[in-house]
Amino acid sequence: MKNILNENLDLKGKKVLLRVDLNVPMKNGAITETSRIEKILPTINLLLKKQAKIIIISHIGRPKGKIVEEMSLKPISDKLSLFLKKEIFFNKGLIDKNTYLEIDKISNASIIMLENIRFNKGEESNDQEFSKKISNLGDIYINDAFSCSHRTHASVEGITKYIPSYFGLQIAEEIDALKKITSEIKKPISLIIGGSKISTKINIINNLIKKFNNIIIVGGMANAVLKNVGINIGRSICENQSDHLIKEIIENSKKHNCEIIIPKDVIVSKSLDGVGKEKNLNEIEEDEMILDIGSKTINLIEEIINNSNTVLWNGPAGYFENPNFQNGTKKILELISKKTKSDKIFSVAGGGETVAAINKFKKIDTFTFVSTAGGAFLEYLEGKELPGIKALNQNV
Ligand code: 3PG
Repeated sequence: MKNILNENLDLKGKKVLLRVDLNVPMKNGAITETSRIEKILPTINLLLKKQAKIIIISHIGRPKGKIVEEMSLKPISDKLSLFLKKEIFFNKGLIDKNTYLEIDKISNASIIMLENIRFNKGEESNDQEFSKKISNLGDIYINDAFSCSHRTHASVEGITKYIPSYFGLQIAEEIDALKKITSEIKKPISLIIGGSKISTKINIINNLIKKFNNIIIVGGMANAVLKNVGINIGRSICENQSDHLIKEIIENSKKHNCEIIIPKDVIVSKSLDGVGKEKNLNEIEEDEMILDIGSKTINLIEEIINNSNTVLWNGPAGYFENPNFQNGTKKILELISKKTKSDKIFSVAGGGETVAAINKFKKIDTFTFVSTAGGAFLEYLEGKELPGIKALNQNV
């Protein structure tokens, strides 16, 4: 990491393309958690101080190259503007001639945010023409989005081939912290993995088996495994295409002496707004959804945390947005926090939903490190060089 944004760069009047990750949790059009917005403020403030023209690029959700109204960055642009106490121009629509014209209008030390970059077809396919097109919008490029640097997308990877590129302050801080932590890890080491991005994470689990003594699977992730072992999961969220990978995970875990733990009991309900009922796995009805882990599972997790020297956590144990299904997530948080304080174990948490849960239950400073990244954090743990980081290192 030689090319990090710093005080010595002359950026006066330069058009700086700043890739950030504003993929924040939202409910009914409102932002429910703002950590990812707050984390990029130091980089933006430094660029403003240096009189740069800032062009913010980000994504939210997975619109797959189509314009999806509910996935507009406009509300996030408004929120960022409140944090900065500064106007942010917003460029609607796809990247076209109008985008160039709008950018040309802004003055030094001002900001324009582009609409969700994933509305453009070439973004996720890392199309080289599209990468060139976005690079032409600016004079230099800064990646301050560690949490999406595992994606080989045009605004993360392709663009660096056509424009001088730098690490932002936030990405540099995350890489430094994770480097230190991963080199100091002490066994036994346990991973708690949950949340709903099953297809993203299931492959990663398979690769992490060699490095962990225990992998505890909870949340939406666990549903796929429960279904695979013949449990009726009713209407619970689940991705069926992961069946072969689950079999592989189970076989690999035996080979590498890694214990895979799945829920022993669950909290179910007929609706997300409903109340919960604790059930054994063989009692789930067709019209019920699994929305949290049960008390036997929590006891088992407690035992594992107490016997670990390092605990890594990514993804909540249930639908914690409804207090009736928050117990599992809250308990995991409390157990890790307590153990970190009393026994000085390493505890690292990562991911948008996980950070939201940590903030909700006010436990942020009781972890050794909290990363804003989810998938990127897990891939970093696998020991992979993330494409976005590799691209920046090659651009020096
Ligand atoms: C994240 O939230 O982990 C990043 O924004 C990446 O999102 P993605 O999994 O949709 O690529």
